[in-house]
Amino acid sequence: MVAFLVAAGLLSLSSFAFTDECRPGFLENMDFPGADLTFLFSPSAEHCQKLCTQHPSCLFFTFLRPDWTRDNRHFYCYLKATASGEPATQTPLLGVTSGFSLKPCSPDPRPCFSETFENVDFPGADYRALFTATYEECQRACTQDPGCQFFTFITRNFAQADIRFKCHLKFSWTIPRTPVVEKKPGVLSGFSHTGQISDQFDTACQSSLFLNTDIPGSDLLSLKAVSAEHCQVLCSAHPQCTYFSFTSDNFRCFLKNNASGMATKADMRVTSGTPARFCQLDGNWVKLTYEEVDFRGSDFRNEPADDADACQRKCTEAPVCQFYTYTNENFSDQAFRRRCFLKRVITMPAPPKVTKLDHVASGFTLRNCVTAA
Ligand SMILES: *[C@@H]1O[C@H](CO)[C@@H](O)[C@H](O)[C@H]1NC(C)=O
Ligand SMILES: *[C@@H]1O[C@H](CO)[C@@H](O)[C@H](O)[C@H]1NC(C)=O
Repeated sequence: MVAFLVAAGLLSLSSFAFTDECRPGFLENMDFPGADLTFLFSPSAEHCQKLCTQHPSCLFFTFLRPDWTRDNRHFYCYLKATASGEPATQTPLLGVTSGFSLKPCSPDPRPCFSETFENVDFPGADYRALFTATYEECQRACTQDPGCQFFTFITRNFAQADIRFKCHLKFSWTIPRTPVVEKKPGVLSGFSHTGQISDQFDTACQSSLFLNTDIPGSDLLSLKAVSAEHCQVLCSAHPQCTYFSFTSDNFRCFLKNNASGMATKADMRVTSGTPARFCQLDGNWVKLTYEEVDFRGSDFRNEPADDADACQRKCTEAPVCQFYTYTNENFSDQAFRRRCFLKRVITMPAPPKVTKLDHVASGFTLRNCVTAA
C-alpha cells in the first residue's frame, strides 16, 4: 500500500514539471506506442482526449478509430503517460489518432458532446427505455432526465422489428467517487470545498438517515464512501438506487434497487437511508477532515504542506482537484511525511463500452451544451 502511494507520488512529481504547455489538436494516423496507463472505450478522438484530460495521470493518448483495420479493437482509447511527459516515439499508423491531455488548457469540467454517432452502440449502463419517433426525441429525453448521460436509439431499419424506435437511456457517474477509502494511521483526507459533489436545489432536505439500521439484500452496486451522508449523495445520483446501507467500519456503501419493498433490520454497525429527491442535502460532510482515512490512488500531483487545512485549501484552489489525502508527521514512510496528495477521477459521461452496430445511433446528453434558446 505504501509502495503504491510512493510510486504514484514519484510519477506525478516527476511528470508534472513538463506538462504546463497547452497542446490542443490531433495527430491523425500517428501512434504514440507503449506507455499505457489503461484503456477506456470512447466514440471519438475528441471524447478520448477529454477522458485523458480528466484522468488523474494521463498526459497523452492514442485512439483506435472505427476505420482501424488490423484487428477488432475499434473505439479503444489508450491513456498514456511517461516520466518526461512526452511520448518516447511517434510512429505513423493508419486508423489511429493521437494527441495530448488538455490539463494545462483550463478544461471545462462539464464538456459538451453534441455529435451523433451513427451505426455505433453504447452497450450497457441502461436504466430506462422508452419509444421515441426520432433520434432527436431520444436525445431530448436524455437531456431532460438528470440520470441520463448518454443513450442508444434503434432506428427504423434495425433487423429485429419489435425494438425499432427504442430509446435506451444510460447512466455514468458525474459526481466524483473515491475509488479507495481505507483506515490508515498518519493520514487525513477530505474534499474540495468548491461544491462539485452534488447538484444545487433551493429546498433543504429533511434528514432521511436510519441510524443503527440495515436493509439487507437487493444490492445494485457496492462502492466506497467516507460516511453515510456521502453514501446518500451517491445513491441520490444513481437513477436506479431506491435505498442504501452504509457500513462505517469498512467504508462500504451498498446502493440497492428494490421498488417493491424495504425490509429493515436493527444493526449497530450500519446506517441506511433513502435518496434525496430534488432537495439540497446537508453538505457539512464535504467540509469535514477525516482522520486516519486514506483516499489511496487517483493522484495528479503532490506537494509539501504544513497541515491538513493547508492541503484542503490547495485542493479547493486547484480547479481540477476533487479530494485529497494529507500525510502528517506520524505517516509510516518518512520521505513522504507532511505532503498533500491532490486527487481526481473522471466525471464526464463515459460509456462502459462502444461497438459498431448497424442501424442504431448513439449520443450524449446536451445538458452541458450551451443552447441558443
Ligand atoms: C424486495 O423487498 C421485498 C421486501 O423486503 C422482498 O420481499 C423482495 O424479495 C425484494 N425483492 C428483490 C428482487 O430482492
Ligand atoms: C503522532 O503520534 C503521537 C503518538 O501517538 C501523538 O501524540 C500525536 O498527536 C500524533 N500527531 C498527529 C499530528 O496526529
